[in-house]
Amino acid sequence: MERLQKIISRAGAASRRAAEQMIAEGRVTVDGVVAETGAQADASQTICIDGKPIHGAEPHVYFLLNKPKGYISTAKDDRGRKTVLDLLSEVKARIYPVGRLDNGTEGLLLLTNDGELMNGLLHPAREVWKTYAAQVEGSFSKQELQTLKNGVSLEDGLTAPAKVRVLDWDDRTGRTKVEISIHEGKNRQVRRMCEAVGHPVRALKRTEFAGLNLSGVKRGEYRTLTAEEVAYLYEVAGLPIPGGQRKG
Ligand code: URA
Repeated sequence: MERLQKIISRAGAASRRAAEQMIAEGRVTVDGVVAETGAQADASQTICIDGKPIHGAEPHVYFLLNKPKGYISTAKDDRGRKTVLDLLSEVKARIYPVGRLDNGTEGLLLLTNDGELMNGLLHPAREVWKTYAAQVEGSFSKQELQTLKNGVSLEDGLTAPAKVRVLDWDDRTGRTKVEISIHEGKNRQVRRMCEAVGHPVRALKRTEFAGLNLSGVKRGEYRTLTAEEVAYLYEVAGLPIPGGQRKG
């Protein structure tokens, strides 16, 4: 027997927190009976959300997308804008992006139907590193670079220490290319960090997530993660590797 929210999140039907909320709202049934908060179930039972069975048996799938600008990274959009799922239209599984990239940001985005891995990778305590290449207006002073590294005061708090490296300076455009690695996921964090030290971002690309990079994946394309990469992400997320390293 396992906690219901854990089964629902592993099935990719909702995050663990969203599942808890649905249980509290009385939207989840186990073998036709409305589940209560704290309820447990096992895989042989029929679990439904709003009367629809979750598909616990759906195999997990994992993709690495090179997102172009102009796609939002939610699964659905009420305003009819293009979403990252439009770029993976051949994938039949119900996948979700692991975190978000702004509409105007390009680069590496993972997508999966493995809710447990997604929650682990996004949990602030795991401090998963993400690296961005930003093109900003103007050039940084030593002091500004140090502020970016130490922590920038934003309206929702001080940012954690970041790794910052100037890559290039373009005389012609007056712009600097800078690489910034952070392990937090505040909304529009890199844009706001650069803006806060006086250098608005003109272009932004995520080049790495948890050490995975975009190598061999062109803009707008995607690839399946290898079993080794999935096992590595489980480690990063602090989860036991499924089917791996059993005793005896
Ligand atoms: N920081 C941003 O400003 N935007 C993103 O999309 C990701 C990180």
